[in-house]
Amino acid sequence: FKRISILVGALALAALAPMALAVKPVTIKFSFVTTLNTPKGKAAQAFKEYVEKASGGAMKVELYPSSQLYKDNAEGLNALIFNNIQLLVPSATKLKGYNPAFQFVDMPYLFRDNDHFKKFTQSDAAQKLLTSLEKAGLVGLGFWPNGFKHFTANKPLRRPADFKGLKFRTQTSGVLEAQMKALGATAVPLAFSEVYQALQQGVVDGQENTLSNIYTQRYYEVQKYLSLTGHGRLDYVVITNKIFLNSLDPEQKKIFMDGIAHANDVAFEEAVKLNADALAKLSELMEVVKLTDEDRAAMEAAMKPVYDEYGPKVGWDLINAIKALK
Ligand code: LMR
Repeated sequence: FKRISILVGALALAALAPMALAVKPVTIKFSFVTTLNTPKGKAAQAFKEYVEKASGGAMKVELYPSSQLYKDNAEGLNALIFNNIQLLVPSATKLKGYNPAFQFVDMPYLFRDNDHFKKFTQSDAAQKLLTSLEKAGLVGLGFWPNGFKHFTANKPLRRPADFKGLKFRTQTSGVLEAQMKALGATAVPLAFSEVYQALQQGVVDGQENTLSNIYTQRYYEVQKYLSLTGHGRLDYVVITNKIFLNSLDPEQKKIFMDGIAHANDVAFEEAVKLNADALAKLSELMEVVKLTDEDRAAMEAAMKPVYDEYGPKVGWDLINAIKALK
């Protein structure tokens, strides 16, 4: 009798078990270079919360912010391709080795505003870029925004002449190299994790990034002026790898994809909010330089040669498709 009751107990437990064990366990490592308090960091946290809750804790998401696991250059991309990590969200330009068209994001004054970028992310042109990653074993899941880039330096930068002879940290990108050359300056490509020290030690005179990155990386400690040039964008591509995605059963895959879709909405909300918050805080910490319409026109005119050189490499079809988005 005792044995039977144990058996009945075990059966009762087993009947309950399918609820809890419906989703098979899996761990998703998500590596990124910014802090948690950024558009990318907030979206990553939203993804983690969604996936862990929807799977009843069976699917775990480990977040590795601030370049603590990998940088987002070849090191991070190789880790992703070999499935050592399962999610990486590098800025679009960092994927130029797979497809030079990803440098569209660096083309000066291409996007009018944040909504223009959002429309792009929903376009066929964006989908085509994502699909082009497949041959590398990567799966592009979408684009997340950060925002417009602005320059910082220890002098006010308003017009092209102000840039002459200075060195600026940029991401590794032919377009950004051409951009700095067009301004009479030099681009110094460095990993994101190395920028603060390079500014502090005077290896570079300035840098360009979004307001939320300038604030969370504390560049205001080593740079006096923030010039609101808004000359280009910094936005992200959400990528996973084929090995991982193919290893998921349909239920896990649905939770994973729904988590990405949820995080996507959070990224768009947070990007606008965090960049606005960052500007308010930076205004207390740095001299903020506003450009007049004439200043902006002079900057745009000086950067025109970038289109002559990189229009064909990035692809005029893509550039014109972006410009045509209303
Ligand atoms: C950079 O290197 O400046 C950016 O790609 C960092 C980031 O991910 O926002």
